This record gives sequence, C-alpha cells and structure tokens, in this order.
Amino acid sequence: MYTVPKLEDFSPAALDAAAAELLGALRSEAESVSGAKAFEEFRNRWMARKNGLLTQVNDLWLKAAPGPAKRDVGQRVNALKAQAEALVSETQFKTAGSALDTRLKSESLDISLPGIERPLGVRHPVLRTLDELISVFVKMGYSIAEGPEVESDYYNFEALNFPPNHPARDTQDTLFIANQEQRPQRDRLLLRTHTSPVQIRSMERISPPVRVICPGKVHRNDAPDATHSPVFHQLEGLCVDTDITFADLKGTLDHAMKSLFGSSVKTSFRPSFFPFTEPSVEVSISCPFCGGRGCRPCKQSGWIELLGAGMVDPNVFGFVGYDPKKLSGFAFGMGVERLTMMSYNVDDIQQFFYGDMRFLEQFAE
Ligand code: FA5
Repeated sequence: MYTVPKLEDFSPAALDAAAAELLGALRSEAESVSGAKAFEEFRNRWMARKNGLLTQVNDLWLKAAPGPAKRDVGQRVNALKAQAEALVSETQFKTAGSALDTRLKSESLDISLPGIERPLGVRHPVLRTLDELISVFVKMGYSIAEGPEVESDYYNFEALNFPPNHPARDTQDTLFIANQEQRPQRDRLLLRTHTSPVQIRSMERISPPVRVICPGKVHRNDAPDATHSPVFHQLEGLCVDTDITFADLKGTLDHAMKSLFGSSVKTSFRPSFFPFTEPSVEVSISCPFCGGRGCRPCKQSGWIELLGAGMVDPNVFGFVGYDPKKLSGFAFGMGVERLTMMSYNVDDIQQFFYGDMRFLEQFAE
C-alpha cells in the first residue's frame, strides 16, 4: 500500500519522480474502486483534510523543503494536487455510471419494446345522429333547450293535457320515484318518459315566437328487445308563432328527413293521437334501403314509421299563458336510437348499449 515518503532530495528531478510514483499509485487504486462505499473510502484516503495523502504531501514535501527550494516545490505540489483531484472526480463519475448500469440491467429495461397504445375515442353512433339532427334544425333557426331527467307529473303529463287517470298515460309506461304518496299528484317525481315537458318549460321561459329543439335522455318501463330500450334518447321540436300551419310542420319534417337520409326519401303523414297535439300524426319515411319496393327492415311495406308530431293543442297554450286565439304552432318528437338504426342499418337497438368495441369501432370517423 502506497505511503507518502519523506524527501531528502528536493531537486526538480527528485520531485518529479516522487510525483510520478504518487500518481501511479493513485491510478492503480482508482482502477479497483467499485461501488459507492469503496469510492468513499478511496476519496477519504487521498483527499481527507486531516491526514489524507495529499495533506501529507503538503507537510512532508512542501513544509519540509529548504527555503530556497520552497517556491519551486510549491508550484510542483500544486500541479500534482490538481492532477490528483481530477483523477478522483473521474473515478467518481465512473462509479456512479456503473451503478446506474447495474440498476438498469436489474430492471431489465428494454427500450426497443413498443409503448402502450391508447387508441383515440370516437363519438357514439347515437350521439352522431343527434349531432347531425341538431345541426339540421340549428340551420333552420332553432335553438337548443334542455330540461331535467327527473321530472314532475305536472310537466311530464298534466300540462301536456294528460289529465290525471287519463288512459293516454298508459301509452308511456312510467318509472316513478318511490315514497311520493304524501305529495299532491302534480308534484310527484318521475323519470321523464319523453322530451315533451321541455316544450312547457320553454314556453314558460320564452315569449313567442318560439323555435326550440330539446335533445335528451328519456326512460320507460319497456322490456328490452330489438327495437325497445328502457333508456333511450328523443329529439323534441317546438315552433310557435302567429300563423304557423300544418304545411309548416310538413315542410320542416320533410326537409329534416331528406337532410338525414338523402333527397330521394319521401315522407308520409298518417292521423294519430297525442293529448298535447290536435291534429296529431305519425310520420313515416319511404324505406331508404329498398326505395319503397319492400324489404325486411320495412316489413315489406315500403315505409318506416319514425316519429310523432302534430299542431300544439290550444289547451297546452292555456297552461303556459299563451293566447290560443293569436298563436298556433307545431311540435314533433323522434326516437334518436330508431333513427340511428335506420341511418346505419343496425337491426338490434341493444347494440348501442352493450359497449362492445367490435361494434363501436365500425363508426370510427
Ligand atoms: C312521444 O314520446 C311524444 N312525446 C312525441 C311527440 C312529440 C308527439 C311532440 C307529438 C308532438 P312516442 O311515445 O310515440 O311519442 O315516442 C316517440 C318515439 O320514441 C317513437 O317514435 C320511437 O321512435 C321512440 N321510442 C318510444 N319508445 C321507445 C323505446 N322503448 N326504445 C326506443 N325508442 C323508443
């Protein structure tokens, strides 16, 4: 093990030889350093202020040098120390670098492996149809109105001219919120069965003229099958002004259906009944699959029934303080899932709710 020798001869040649011996020893010790602990020991041995080998060089070589040689010895000792310090910090880098190497090897990091792929989401087909419909009506000057999904009996039924206990209520199998028996019937809460209550809420809020569409989720106690779901979406429309006629209703819906299914599609209006419209109609479109000749989706009839509509019943105007003598209007409501089934030729409504990626991926834009 190297120790700093006492010097007898302070000549430049003797000093150079002693310095070369010291650096040689330092280099060979540095080579065998491995790990942080060994480096700590190595650094202390050479660099410690108290009694480190370089401090000993100061005492044994510089301080012991005779007066006339001091200046030259001082310069040589300083140069030696600078070289020794550089070697020590080089050794520090090497040990730290190899420690990192060992860690990376132990983690067996393989940077050539592919990363985690996160595919981009796409809009759900039902939402896509809803957005298309919204943009058709927005272009015709309609604005968007929304209402609550948990609705009161008054807005869902009474103000829409369904009197309490009227059989028309049975056409919309309703889910009621529990424990409401103590409340007056009009305040009892339920899950809205259609988006029509937003018609009432909009007329209460806006003075005529009114042109609104109301998109949203609705709930019915319907057993799920290929065309029914207990939760589905509707798009409601309401237009009220001083001289709105049935011709406006026909023109508006005809335009909307042509925008959605193509300009060759025809619309047909058949009498129907809703308590809040008079007259009421069921609207069908000529089958976009067979062009009206008859096929499986249209059950060989050439027509597909898509929505309900009608002229706003004057009684409804009475509930919102509109004057039925001055105003007239039309309303319509469509099932968005059913329209989406038509647009994309989907034969089972349940597909929209399973969340099966193989189905949804087909709608990547
Ligand atoms: C209504 O809900 C009326 N509020 C529509 C209306 C609005 C008429 C304004 C006049 C004026 P209906 O119960 O027929 O009507 O439902 C409308 C549409 O919702 C149906 O044509 C159908 O497309 C869709 N629909 C009804 N029940 C379901 C269900 N269980 N699953 C999926 N879609 C349904």
